[in-house]
Amino acid sequence: MPPRLLLLTVCLSLSNVLSANGRTVSDRGSFQSVSHSAKGVSAAHKAQWDYPPAYRNTSSVEVLYGREVADPYRWLENPDSEETKEFITAQNKLTASYTGQYKYRKEAKAALTNMHNYKRQSSPARHGEYYYITRNSGLQAQSVIYRDRSLSFEKQDVFFDPNQLSREGTAALATSSFSTTGRLFGYGTSYNGSDWMTLRVRCAVNFLQCRSGEDLADEVRWVKFSRMSWTSDERGFFYTRYPEPSTEQGGPGTDTGGNTNAMLYYHRIGTPQSEDQLILQDPEHPNYLFASDVTSDGRWLVVTVSRGGAINKLWVAPMNQDGSVPERVEFRSIVDDFSAAHGVIDSDDSLLYIMTNAGAPRYKIVTYDMNSPEAGFVDLVPQHATNVLKDAGIFADNRLYLHYLQDVKSILNIHVLPTGQKLRQLPTPVGSMSGFRYKRRNHELFFQMSSYLAPAITYRYDVSQDTVSEFHTTVVSGFNSNEFETKQVLVRSNDGTQIPMFITARKDIKLDGSNPALLYGYGGFSISLLPNFSSSWAFFLRHYNGVLAVANIRGGGEYGELWHGGGMLTQKQNSFDDFQSAAKYLSSQGYTRPARLTINGGSNGGLLVGASINQAPELFGCALADVGVMDMLRFHKFTIGHVWTAEYGNPDNEEDFEYLLDYSPLHNVRADRAYPAVLLTTNDHDDRVVPLHSYKLAAQLQYARRDNASPLMLRVGVNAGHGAGKPTEKLIEEWVNKFAFMALSLNLSWAL
Ligand SMILES: *[C@@H]1O[C@H](CO)[C@@H](O)[C@H](O)[C@H]1NC(C)=O
Ligand SMILES: *[C@@H]1O[C@H](CO)[C@@H](O)[C@H](O)[C@H]1NC(C)=O
Ligand SMILES: *[C@@H]1O[C@H](CO)[C@@H](O)[C@H](O)[C@H]1NC(C)=O
Ligand SMILES: *[C@@H]1O[C@H](CO)[C@@H](O)[C@H](O)[C@H]1NC(C)=O
Repeated sequence: MPPRLLLLTVCLSLSNVLSANGRTVSDRGSFQSVSHSAKGVSAAHKAQWDYPPAYRNTSSVEVLYGREVADPYRWLENPDSEETKEFITAQNKLTASYTGQYKYRKEAKAALTNMHNYKRQSSPARHGEYYYITRNSGLQAQSVIYRDRSLSFEKQDVFFDPNQLSREGTAALATSSFSTTGRLFGYGTSYNGSDWMTLRVRCAVNFLQCRSGEDLADEVRWVKFSRMSWTSDERGFFYTRYPEPSTEQGGPGTDTGGNTNAMLYYHRIGTPQSEDQLILQDPEHPNYLFASDVTSDGRWLVVTVSRGGAINKLWVAPMNQDGSVPERVEFRSIVDDFSAAHGVIDSDDSLLYIMTNAGAPRYKIVTYDMNSPEAGFVDLVPQHATNVLKDAGIFADNRLYLHYLQDVKSILNIHVLPTGQKLRQLPTPVGSMSGFRYKRRNHELFFQMSSYLAPAITYRYDVSQDTVSEFHTTVVSGFNSNEFETKQVLVRSNDGTQIPMFITARKDIKLDGSNPALLYGYGGFSISLLPNFSSSWAFFLRHYNGVLAVANIRGGGEYGELWHGGGMLTQKQNSFDDFQSAAKYLSSQGYTRPARLTINGGSNGGLLVGASINQAPELFGCALADVGVMDMLRFHKFTIGHVWTAEYGNPDNEEDFEYLLDYSPLHNVRADRAYPAVLLTTNDHDDRVVPLHSYKLAAQLQYARRDNASPLMLRVGVNAGHGAGKPTEKLIEEWVNKFAFMALSLNLSWAL
């Protein structure tokens, strides 16, 4: 059971503002400067971008803390109105007519499709008598779960195929969990990319009247940000749900209403959801999130309570001797404040193993004895001097694996219980690890390694032999990784902090400023950008002779909580500064030049891009902002946005309002500066970062910069969401569109 310190890999992001005393913030600089816009903007360009007219409601102005803040496009917050639909249709039409002009669009699509068409699979996981593996043959819309009794996977059966659930491939497996003995498979499906899911249960063996491979009648709805945590008696599972959304705010998936008042429930197999047992709710704190877990021996129910962000309370309740849920679940509070992150890895009798950053910003492992709470936390594996503990787990009865990051590269150490002593570091290549699969009572540990040049290689560590062997390698045809190499460099940011960055390019690259480059960043929520393969990045390296740069800016977790804290709340500007420093580095070192540099990021990384184009437009030729958080004064009002106040601050507090306004992309669009080509991408069913952020920013950019030489456009995907579960075809289409936009805007040449 992996520690779940962060419920939300809820990704998000933002930008910068001028002082606005006495002026309407979003009109800052608008229009008065059309005549002296930056050089290169010729009259011929003025008519070039025929932006669809968008109504500006000039009376939509609020006075916030003594300032007038205009929100002329607030009407775009209504996803269902005819006006919003017309806006989206017109924007999509314009963007399609532009990207449709790309001469190599067909070739690009074929090459991207080819690059994506490789067989890939997850680490195998053992449940009961079977090994289960998730595979994609290459272009399947959704990956399929296969199983076999042997690891050879010679006689594999399809166990679960989400492609059967929808003709368009828009149904996705959003969560899944096997019961203790592996006879029941709990799963959650989501549609059209929404975070909403419905939970069901499939029999993995013949069970009662249910045959292996069939579903039980159980159905649990209005579930979000939840897993299914089985009790060890296999009678049911814990899950988190929200009140059913009101239909006034859009249908499920396009709804924008706040997700508050989370409730932790227990569902009993064979009973209707209406009879589920309410375990936890907190009407006094409607913004709390609950995540549940049951220890591998079934003895403890562990609940983390968070407000988003990487800190949480930790509550633990005993289950009955037979593993069933007591009639009254009585929580004992292990940690009852929001001071640090705490996740229970597993337990032995009354002893809990906990991964925490309390007093250890690079994380450590402690024990806590439920029978002697007065002893508190006892260090088992103290914080490492330099490396950050990223994941931990207990397998093979008494082995503890610890996955560390050393300068953004993975290291895997094996320790032994009860002492916590280190046995050895496993020999692994340079790259990042993910996909850990193991069982407490099984001698195997599977994991995957990946890098910018190679997708996952799966390894199997066998404790009984103490050997690591390669279990499966992935090959991408059409990509000869030998022609490329990855380097890690350090970039000096504005305040002198050294920011690591991975640069991947052809081995024989000439550093003469002529190469196109793609700079990617995120910088938030303690999420680390580890070396990883992406077919779209490989496509860019291969077909545009591109340079791929990934900057590990502050706000991420690459160096632990201090790195995260250095780029959040009042320090958020640091992550933008780091990113912009990375862009300057790429140009000053000759990897590229501003006119050939594209920046990209999604969610919080979309904010990063949105902020950067306002703050330093001269550094980039093109900006691709995906599913970004762009309105920093209203993000907390929609769906799960309120939990991001832990990361960004709360716009309803004056102090936070001031610094949010300073970088909010929507409120810092400047009429007096030339912008790079900008493409905002979002999707109609993104109920994580609602698409209205991108709509409003697109309208504002097009209004304030209607004379901009480079295009400022918006693309809204249909029946897709924040990213998870996106069918392959939509993924490729989205990337073709982004590359066509980039290649056209920067006049990139196509390398066959
Ligand atoms: C314009 O904004 C004002 C103030 O919020 C609002 O009362 C009015 O209904 C809006 N008009 C339109 C046409 O949306
Ligand atoms: C997905 O979107 C399509 C088109 O909007 C809609 O017909 C369908 O009902 C949606 N599916 C779900 C489960 O929301
Ligand atoms: C790499 O990407 C794959 C697919 O997006 C993902 O499943 C995996 O967790 C990623 N690995 C790391 C180390 O981020
Ligand atoms: C685009 O690039 C081609 C060759 O790479 C060059 O011949 C052409 O002049 C460029 N066009 C513009 C508008 O810069």
